[in-house]
Amino acid sequence: MQRTLIWDLPTRLFHWTLATSFALAWLTSEGDRWRSIHVFVGYLMLALVVFRLTWGFAGSHFSRFSTFWFGPRETAVYLKQVVRGRADRHVGHNPAGSLAIYVLLALAVLVGLTGIVTLGGDEQHGLAATWFSFSQALLLKKVHKAGAILMLLVVFGHIAGVVVESFLHRENLARSMVTGFKMAAAGTPKASAHKLMAGVMLLAMLGFGGWWFAYAIDRQVDEAPWHGSKEISAAEEPHVKFVGKALPDSAQWRDECGSCHAVFYPALLPKRSWQKIMADQSDHFGTDLGLDAPTTAAVLRFLVDNAADGHQTEAAFKIDQSVPKNVTPLRITETPYWIRKHREIAASDWANPLVKSKANCAACHADADAGTFEDGAMQIPKAPAVPASK
Ligand code: HEC
Ligand code: HEC
Repeated sequence: MQRTLIWDLPTRLFHWTLATSFALAWLTSEGDRWRSIHVFVGYLMLALVVFRLTWGFAGSHFSRFSTFWFGPRETAVYLKQVVRGRADRHVGHNPAGSLAIYVLLALAVLVGLTGIVTLGGDEQHGLAATWFSFSQALLLKKVHKAGAILMLLVVFGHIAGVVVESFLHRENLARSMVTGFKMAAAGTPKASAHKLMAGVMLLAMLGFGGWWFAYAIDRQVDEAPWHGSKEISAAEEPHVKFVGKALPDSAQWRDECGSCHAVFYPALLPKRSWQKIMADQSDHFGTDLGLDAPTTAAVLRFLVDNAADGHQTEAAFKIDQSVPKNVTPLRITETPYWIRKHREIAASDWANPLVKSKANCAACHADADAGTFEDGAMQIPKAPAVPASK
């Protein structure tokens, strides 16, 4: 037995970058704040899979699919041996490990592609922006989540397998995936390191990362329609702009509904709410709007045509989904989705004189007037310093 290079550099780089990306994807999967990192590692994983599929034919001996292409029977026999504690040692991938590799590669493709659809439909961002409706994306978002959970289970199985095998054959398999070396009989095919290929990979990944974080995100924030009206630091809020269709507008609606409070975009409440609000216009939260019948009808038409039921924006879709069909909310701030999204805001932020009221959407949403309510346009204002004299 002699110390032999089994795993070439590109294979090891692939393995550990994929593992890190997967962990990062999980850590950044909740909430909007880390979305740019989540999406970045998603694209990176897809690119890594494409690389690995190529390397399965072009890589060095033990990285090729032909050396770890086992049938179901062989795999079953091997797993039985493992259970009995006396499995054959494989210098390359063993049948159980190989199964995990193929399943993980397939799941990475599934999760990556459904992620692109989710981003395109749910947020109207990314490669598939505007291709899918919110409700179409909802189904694929479930596939995206289920696939990620399945992948996590397979990863746990894979790690358990590595631990068991390492004990069974008294060798540290994880370390050999770092160093590339294993003990092998003389005559075992040696891998060549493929340093050039690894260098190209590393440069490509660094280049992609540099472009993504230094250029792509900054540029999207700079071009955002609300830029200039409010300072948004790209470092703090590395989000991207709304790229869906521009929302319809109405001068009459702005005139009649924007004098006492800022206008509330119609997509924030369902049709039935606007019908009720306009039917009660003479007793509008305690004030009489004093609108004549034709004006009421015209404003109502605009409100109804663009109500939440039309799913024009992510907020519209989610508000519509969250309100039970037999309930007619008169306030946006009473819809379950709104309540859920604003539950974690501190009382001190609501008390901030720059906010004052829950209905003062524009205090925190720079694009409230446009009605899009994008993540990137959201920022809670800092309370001004307390004056020294009272
Ligand atoms: C004369 C002043 C006035 C005008 C004009 C007016 N509103 Fe209001 N609106 C109010 C007041 C007062 C409230 C209650 C504010 C509060 O309690 O926070 C309110 C609240 C609302 C709310 C609830 C906001 C929430 O989620 O808490 C909606 C929706 C609304 N108005 C829609 C409209 C529409 C649509 C129009 C145009 C047809 C309109 N308003 C015109 C005075 C006005
Ligand atoms: C005090 C600041 C503040 C005010 C005022 C406020 N919001 Fe928000 N809003 C937030 C924060 C913070 C989030 C992000 C919550 C999260 O990421 O889970 C948010 C999230 C949202 C979202 C979800 C956006 C998304 O894509 O995740 C919508 C829609 C929204 N707000 C609508 C409104 C509307 C409509 C009003 C006015 C009636 C309003 N907000 C008033 C702070 C505010």
